[in-house]
Amino acid sequence: MALRSLRGKAFADNVHQPFDVTMHLVIRAVRADDLPKLEWFGSLAHWRDVNRRTFSDHEAGLRLMFVADLRDFPIGQVVIDVASHEYAYLYALRVLQPFQSLGIGSRLITVGESVARGHGFRQIHLAVEKKNIGARRLYERLGFEIFTQRVDVWSYVDHHGQTHWVHEDVYGMRKLLL
Ligand SMILES: CC(C)(COP(=O)(O)OP(=O)(O)OC[C@H]1O[C@@H](n2cnc3c(N)ncnc32)[C@H](O)[C@@H]1OP(=O)(O)O)[C@@H](O)C(=O)NCCC(=O)NCCS
Repeated sequence: MALRSLRGKAFADNVHQPFDVTMHLVIRAVRADDLPKLEWFGSLAHWRDVNRRTFSDHEAGLRLMFVADLRDFPIGQVVIDVASHEYAYLYALRVLQPFQSLGIGSRLITVGESVARGHGFRQIHLAVEKKNIGARRLYERLGFEIFTQRVDVWSYVDHHGQTHWVHEDVYGMRKLLL
């Protein structure tokens, strides 16, 4: 018995043969049924109200939200604000952690750029926290340039109804859309 359980433990501890999985993703406009899923198992529940407002603006055509859909689950998102007259503004870009560094973020940005172009914009802007070196590297690789630095101050109401103030030390970045 002892021998059998030792063997069983050795088998359970084994790292099994690795295998590749092909993923079919689509980037599409957000839908109402994405909103609960965009909370990513509770880790982003604090954005519930923000997401609701964004969705409502999305339906009004003021801010457009896109998701990277994997088997009907949004594993990435981006928002493009098209309400200004001078430039489109890209923000709320994120990819669920296990799916990062696979090219999904780049794809979401590219979609954001074509949406901006489609709305007649010649420029797209974004803000990146100074300490977010990885994201800044990604934006620079995709042709964005720093043109300003500032502290962005904004607030949101979380899922408990509590207001949070955010102070972010950011670089403003922009890209000309040809
Ligand atoms: C930034 C982010 C959206 C990029 O999406 P992605 O699918 O990982 O991006 P891609 O695979 O197209 O490109 C990979 C590049 O993204 C950046 N990146 C990867 N993981 C990152 C992370 N956790 N945080 C910040 N940047 C990251 C790196 O520049 C990376 O390039 P590298 O391999 O040379 O280091 C994603 O990593 C993320 O959601 N990060 C956390 C939230 C965030 O920082 N959002 C940006 C706010 S401005």
